[in-house]
Amino acid sequence: MWIRNAWYIAGWASEVSSDHLLARTFLGEPVIMYRAENGSVAALEDRCCHRHAPLSKGRLEGDAVRCMYHGLKFDPSGQCIEIPGETNVPANYRVRGYPLTEKQNLLWIWMGDTDLADPSDIVDWPYLDDEAWRFTEGYLHYQASYLLGIDNFLDFSHLPYVHEHTIGTDAFAQNRPATERTDYGMHIRNIATNDPPSAHFKKFGGFRGLVDRWNIYNFHTRGNLLLMDSGAAPVGEGGHEGERKNACEFRHLSAMTPETETTSHYHFGHARNFGLDVDGLDQGVHDTIVNAFEEDRDIIDAQQRIISGGGTAPMLPIAADAALLHIRREIDNIVAKEQQLRTAAE
Ligand code: FES
Ligand SMILES: [Fe+2]
Repeated sequence: MWIRNAWYIAGWASEVSSDHLLARTFLGEPVIMYRAENGSVAALEDRCCHRHAPLSKGRLEGDAVRCMYHGLKFDPSGQCIEIPGETNVPANYRVRGYPLTEKQNLLWIWMGDTDLADPSDIVDWPYLDDEAWRFTEGYLHYQASYLLGIDNFLDFSHLPYVHEHTIGTDAFAQNRPATERTDYGMHIRNIATNDPPSAHFKKFGGFRGLVDRWNIYNFHTRGNLLLMDSGAAPVGEGGHEGERKNACEFRHLSAMTPETETTSHYHFGHARNFGLDVDGLDQGVHDTIVNAFEEDRDIIDAQQRIISGGGTAPMLPIAADAALLHIRREIDNIVAKEQQLRTAAE
C-alpha cells in the first residue's frame, strides 16, 4: 500500500552511468536505470516484453538496452527497435519507461500515471548542490515497510532510547514538538533548550556546556521526504533564532522509498557548512550519522519481524504518535483516491 503519484528518490545521481544497468525495485516493480550517451537518465521496466527475462541481465549498446536472452533491443523510452531476424517491429512491442529526473545530485522516479508527472513538483533542497555546504551520500536498505520508517521520521521521542549514545538526549522524550498540518504534509519544530549536547554535537560542535538545540523540519507525504534544519548553539545565543555565529548546524534530507510491502530504500544526505576543507571530516560526520541510522534500522527491522509474525493485538497509541497517525491517515486517503480514479478509468 503506497501512493503511486509522487516523485520518489530512486538513488544518487552518481550511481547511474552509461556503462552499466542499475537494477532496483520500486513500489513492487523491477526497474533498470542508466545514463544515455547525452548524459540524460533513463528508467525502464526490468522485464523484457518477449519472454519476461530481466533486462538487467542485458547489455547497454549506446543509448539502447539489448535483452541478452533472444536479443530484442529497446530505446531509452522503452520502445523495441530491433528483433533479430525480423524486419518489422510492431509498435506495441515495448517495455514501460518511467519518468526519471536528476536534480540536486539525486535521481527522482515517478511510478504512477505518467501524464501526471511534472518535474517542477520535485522539492528543492539546495544544500545538496551548493558550494557553501558539503554533504555525503547515504543509503541503507530496510527489511521493513516504509511506513515504519516514516513513523520514525515523525516522532523523535525515540532519540534518547534508540540513539542513547549518538544523537539522543532525554529532552526529546519529555518535550512535545510543535506540529502543524500543511498541504504537503507536516511541519515540525522540535526544540530543546538548556540541554546537554548529544555525543554528536560534542564531537562536531565542540560543545562542553549546555546548548539550545533544534530539529525543524518539513515532512512531505508524497515521496516520504524529511527536509530538516538541525543544529545546536550555546545557551543564551537565541538558539535557532539567533545569529548562529557559534552554532553547529546541518541540513538533512531523509527519504523512504517503498521497495516491496515489507522492504524499503532509505536515502539520506547530511550537509554541513563548517570545516569544508578539514581532512577526514566528511567521513567522520558520515560515519556518525550512519551509526545512528543503523540504530534506527535495527529496531525497525526487528519491529517488522514481530509484525510479520502475526498476532491480533492492536497498537496502542501514545501522545507522541500524533504526527505519525495523522500522516498515516493522509496516506490512506490519498491511496484510496488514487484507487477510485484507477477503478473509474477501467
Ligand atoms: S526474453 Fe528478452 S528477447 Fe526473449
Ligand atoms: Fe532515529
